Amino acid sequence: MDSLLIKGGVPLHGEVNISGAKNAVLPIMAASLLTSETCIIHGVPDLSDVSFMGEILRSLGAEVARDGDTLTLAATKVRGVGDYDLIRKMRGSICILGPLLGRLRKARVSLPGGCVIGPRPIDLHLKGLKELGAKITIEEGYIRASAPKFCGTDVFLGGRSGPTVLGTSNVMMAAVLAEGVTVIQSAACEPEVVDVAAFLNAMGARINGAGSPTITITGVGQLHGAEHRVIPDRIEAATYAIAAAATRGEVTLQGARPEHLHAVLDKLREAGVKVERRGTALTVRRAGRLRPVDVTTLPYAGFPTDVQAQMMALMTLTPGISIITERIFESRFMHVSELARLGAEIAIEGPSAIVKGGRPLSGAPVMASDLRASAALVIGGLAARGLTQVKRIYHLDRGYERLDDKLRNLGARVERVEET
Ligand code: EPU
Repeated sequence: MDSLLIKGGVPLHGEVNISGAKNAVLPIMAASLLTSETCIIHGVPDLSDVSFMGEILRSLGAEVARDGDTLTLAATKVRGVGDYDLIRKMRGSICILGPLLGRLRKARVSLPGGCVIGPRPIDLHLKGLKELGAKITIEEGYIRASAPKFCGTDVFLGGRSGPTVLGTSNVMMAAVLAEGVTVIQSAACEPEVVDVAAFLNAMGARINGAGSPTITITGVGQLHGAEHRVIPDRIEAATYAIAAAATRGEVTLQGARPEHLHAVLDKLREAGVKVERRGTALTVRRAGRLRPVDVTTLPYAGFPTDVQAQMMALMTLTPGISIITERIFESRFMHVSELARLGAEIAIEGPSAIVKGGRPLSGAPVMASDLRASAALVIGGLAARGLTQVKRIYHLDRGYERLDDKLRNLGARVERVEET
């Protein structure tokens, strides 16, 4: 197992290219199961989650080949039964269910496991697919679904914590090959859903309204192959922007889509960080003192839950009190106790973390618990005095392409070492 050694206190300077979005590419890869023709996806980040989804698709009979950042996917023949152990390991793999049902009208997929950020139910995915006509049972750890008749209808996908991102994509991917018109109400508006819809439309689907709470899908007889470029990863972009601010640096994000980052950039500006936009380049600079800000995570276009931990790391460096409220996932505060090892003062009160910031952080060995918590620890380590060892960085490799290389190019003193 690798860990990351960070010698902190060096301001980040320079340019960083933003990679393709993990959370768009995973469902897009699954969508390629909807056609027997070849699909070509550009801008695919080299991440362990992407390799893992590739393995899942291969286990279903698809051919998957990578050349640089281009993936070629061909699901000439597909099996409707996924490998139990493979699928249950990655939560995102649930998005193969919709495409398998759409194409084969039946599927047997293992239930995805829980996860440290909360229970992560899939009731809304199943509700949506049932409303389209699927019969679904849970047996021996598998979801068994069959839909001899699959018909468009109105589907409401609002849940306790708002809409569901992968649930919206899953139902949308199933509905493109259903008979008639499906209207998804309370759909997730995230840019990743819009990207999945764009790919499906390039395959011959008829989807309108993606990016709004109402998505209309008119079923078609079949889909064909398509070529698509994945949108840039707004969470990766936000992470580098916050790292620049945390280290009193100046970093230009190349290839990001500023229009996907409004909520994060707005909070950074409120905190006193300078953000300048030139075309698609965004320069983030911290000159003076930071100001505390209150942040509440919300569905898009609100502040993303996937940036909550990184923002908390920044607020630990900010004199004063910041309140960070998590409204999407119940227990997404695993980073709090590890940030405390770096000297941060944070108290949890229900869904809120109260951050008493401003004391300098000092390096320490810390343990990564999930992807974004790990990113927060890296930011803390970059800003802290002395040496931080972030253990278990396989979490980071799931979602940040070549993180250590990119940070080194920005001047950070970061080294990947094998844990002993
Ligand atoms: N929910 C339900 N029932 C469902 C599905 C979700 O109650 O059937 C609840 C969840 O428990 C949560 C809320 O709805 O409280 C939102 O969950 P959502 O379904 O939107 O999450 P997801 O689609 O499983 C994706 C990303 C996550 C990201 C969330 C929220 C992928 C592969 N994952 O998950 O990304 O945090 O949307 O934006 O797209 C990450 O990248 O680190 C990550 C965790």
